[in-house]
Amino acid sequence: MKDNERPIGILDSGIGGLTVVRRMQSLLPGEDIIYFGDSANVPYGNRTEDEILALTRKMIHFLAGRQVKCIAIACNTISTLIQRLRAEAPCPLINIIDAGSSCIAEQKLPQVGLIATEFTVKMGAYDAKIHSRAPQCEVFAKGSPRLAALIDKGDFDDDAINAEIREQVGAILNRAPVEHLLLACTHFPLVEDNFRACYPQLKLIDPADQEAAYMDRLLTEHHWHNAQERGTFSIYTTGDPAVYARVAARLGLRRPEVCEHAAL
Ligand code: DGL
Repeated sequence: MKDNERPIGILDSGIGGLTVVRRMQSLLPGEDIIYFGDSANVPYGNRTEDEILALTRKMIHFLAGRQVKCIAIACNTISTLIQRLRAEAPCPLINIIDAGSSCIAEQKLPQVGLIATEFTVKMGAYDAKIHSRAPQCEVFAKGSPRLAALIDKGDFDDDAINAEIREQVGAILNRAPVEHLLLACTHFPLVEDNFRACYPQLKLIDPADQEAAYMDRLLTEHHWHNAQERGTFSIYTTGDPAVYARVAARLGLRRPEVCEHAAL
């Protein structure tokens, strides 16, 4: 198989990364995509660094075994560990934090709210990257210990989801009257309607668009674009494939040719 015909790998702790697949399919329709979501071990955001690294290495190994030409780390929590993962990866990796922070820096915002997992907030990777490019931008970050896991269940319990959004975003707004909120966890754009219902005045930013643009650039650099018109889509998960098929349809993704349970 020629290098440009090899698939792209996309990985996430769970279903959240399907929000990144949505942007990749729309910008790069010819690419074959293999997605891995580790729902059996979600939420990563409440785990230790060593646990996250060990689980992610297994996902990378799984995707490398399927001959991917590169991997997009969709998960923000995993992306905080990009340096260590890159040092040992068998193929180029891109990550969502570089994409999300450059998107904030380019908009030259005076301040931004950021909601993520507790791990992502604790690691401070967004703050550091935003400040290196936009020192004037104040970042008001808040971690949610519950929202990603609630969403990963796939039953979209509006009452529980809205209560958690109000608690965490309310805490940000008590600190500063931000107008923009970065959804710095891939699971959160799945419930952007809930964010809008709770806080209609906030402008939501989803870094997935920018990550797809980063992938486009990487493929250009390596002459790796797949020239076919329409790529295939395969989903593997340690969780329930039926939830993935349902969420993929909810996001308007292409119907996956493969949607299977897999062990890590
Ligand atoms: N999807 C992950 C992220 O973007 C978080 C979910 C989790 O805690 O596993 O950070």
